[in-house]
Amino acid sequence: MNIDQPDMLNVRKAQKQLNILVVGCGLGGLAAAYALGRAGHFITVIESSTSIGEVGAGIQIGPNLSRILIRWGLEQRLKSVSERDKPTWFTFHRYDTGEVLGMSRLEGKLDRDHGAPWHVVHRADLYEMLLSKASPYMNLRMNSRVTSLNFDDTSRPSLTLQTGEVISADLIVGADGINSVVRSHVTGQTKIPLSVPTGDLAYRVVIPTRTFTDDPQLRFLVEEPRIRCWIGPGRHIVGYCIRNRTEYNLVLVKPGDGHSYSWTAEGDLKEMRNGFNEWDPCVQKLLSKADSVLESRLLICKPLETWIHGSGRVVLLGDSCHPMLPYRAQGSAMAIEDAAVLGNLFSRISDTSQITPLLDAYESLRHARVTATQEASARNRTVYHLPDGLEQIQRDAAMKIAMEEEVSSYERFKDGYSPSISDQNDNPNAWSDKNKNKEQFDYDPDNAVEEWWALNRDNIRSLGNEKDASQVLI
Ligand SMILES: Cc1cc2nc3c(=O)[nH]c(=O)nc-3n(C[C@H](O)[C@H](O)[C@H](O)COP(=O)(O)OP(=O)(O)OC[C@H]3O[C@@H](n4cnc5c(N)ncnc54)[C@H](O)[C@@H]3O)c2cc1C
Ligand SMILES: *[C@@H]1O[C@H](CO)[C@@H](O)[C@H](O)[C@H]1NC(C)=O
Ligand SMILES: *[C@@H]1O[C@H](CO)[C@@H](O)[C@H](O)[C@H]1NC(C)=O
Ligand SMILES: *[C@@H]1O[C@H](CO)[C@@H](O)[C@H](O)[C@H]1NC(C)=O
Repeated sequence: MNIDQPDMLNVRKAQKQLNILVVGCGLGGLAAAYALGRAGHFITVIESSTSIGEVGAGIQIGPNLSRILIRWGLEQRLKSVSERDKPTWFTFHRYDTGEVLGMSRLEGKLDRDHGAPWHVVHRADLYEMLLSKASPYMNLRMNSRVTSLNFDDTSRPSLTLQTGEVISADLIVGADGINSVVRSHVTGQTKIPLSVPTGDLAYRVVIPTRTFTDDPQLRFLVEEPRIRCWIGPGRHIVGYCIRNRTEYNLVLVKPGDGHSYSWTAEGDLKEMRNGFNEWDPCVQKLLSKADSVLESRLLICKPLETWIHGSGRVVLLGDSCHPMLPYRAQGSAMAIEDAAVLGNLFSRISDTSQITPLLDAYESLRHARVTATQEASARNRTVYHLPDGLEQIQRDAAMKIAMEEEVSSYERFKDGYSPSISDQNDNPNAWSDKNKNKEQFDYDPDNAVEEWWALNRDNIRSLGNEKDASQVLI
């Protein structure tokens, strides 16, 4: 069933069409293939694995990501896979008793505040959506591992595949994830730059809801779709329904070494359960239903100085240049936003001399924002993981005040719910912090490019003009 709608924007076609190689067919690579392809460029995507797709787990789609997906014509598909999972509230629970510590309204409130909805979906469903959009624009080469890049011809970089084949292009986009080969050429270092283990492990579990819908102690998890977060000393758990409430998705974070940074490594169920054996009995019962778990070690990666190779013809995007801690569910959103900005900028190109300045613009529009998000995610860890004590008591008290305001405001305005509550600035429940939410969820990549273009248009156009005065400019 194809229910893609047309793009909501008239898509601008570039006057100069480029050959672009995208390395990596993850969510970031696919989004880049689509955003650059629909701007008229010729896209080849190089992917090392033999099969594409995403392993099973859920992902939160906040307003800034849903805004992009809707603009790209994916609203109906988003609804069809996740309408009944749309979270009503974000609820914090105390780790041992399950007591509700804080609540923020999502449905109806964030939607109206930020003009775009909150969804939770299965990663595979998001992947499918982007694949359907990108497919018409890309030549996808699977089972092709990039081993190195070459810059002998400075205006036409090339990459070498494991087979020895060499492919050149006007522009190479490295969307090859945290162990990026392209990044090692940009930074001149083979290691993940400045990465520090947080000392935490993340487990991911997906449990079929039919295993507990008859259980009076657990049924509430399916009856109303909320995002729930249990917070406790050194640990936390986030859970929500996906796939029309047939699956319950859990992410659990606890101290531990783990084996590798990988999102696909099998974890030890017993070890996971032991990590939470003093927690809310509900949580323990839920974990007893799991029959497999994925485990990854969490790393903090410091920002790269630049995402652009010295040749000005190679650029990074997504996890290859800014891996995220998963404390605010932003890894995929950031990669897809990168792609939206890059695509919009390169829809304005009229001469190859503009490639490097447009890449500089991409970096300047994205770098500070992404860095701030990386840092905010790391800060959230501290607050969620407070040990019982004075600071925890203060945190819980602040969350409670915000909750009472939210709930009473919700009760009063249920039908035309309009968030007129006072700003909860710096509330430990970040979801009640209006200024933070504004900063984070109102960002519109197309507006950001539009503003930049208004200021820099003449400079960029003059680059093309010098070389070809007869060029008709947009
Ligand atoms: C399976 C998986 C599960 C994840 N789960 C979570 C999660 O639960 N929470 C969270 O916050 N983040 C998670 N992440 C990270 C999150 O998905 C990313 O932040 C986001 O999707 C952006 O990804 P990306 O496209 O930049 O990179 P990736 O999704 O890592 O994609 C990179 C792609 O490049 C390909 N590739 C790598 N090297 C080469 C090469 N040399 N030649 C050719 N191709 C190459 C890879 O096969 C892969 O398809 C996960 C990532 C993966 C891959
Ligand atoms: C979702 O579940 C409901 C209730 O079980 C069912 O009526 C509906 O058809 C399902 N929708 C989809 C898209 O599967
Ligand atoms: C979480 O992150 C946001 C920014 O994304 C920050 O404003 C907030 O203070 C953090 N919350 C916690 C609980 O640390
Ligand atoms: C999208 O929202 C997240 C918060 O969930 C924020 O960190 C991010 O910066 C926003 N988008 C962009 C483009 O920055």
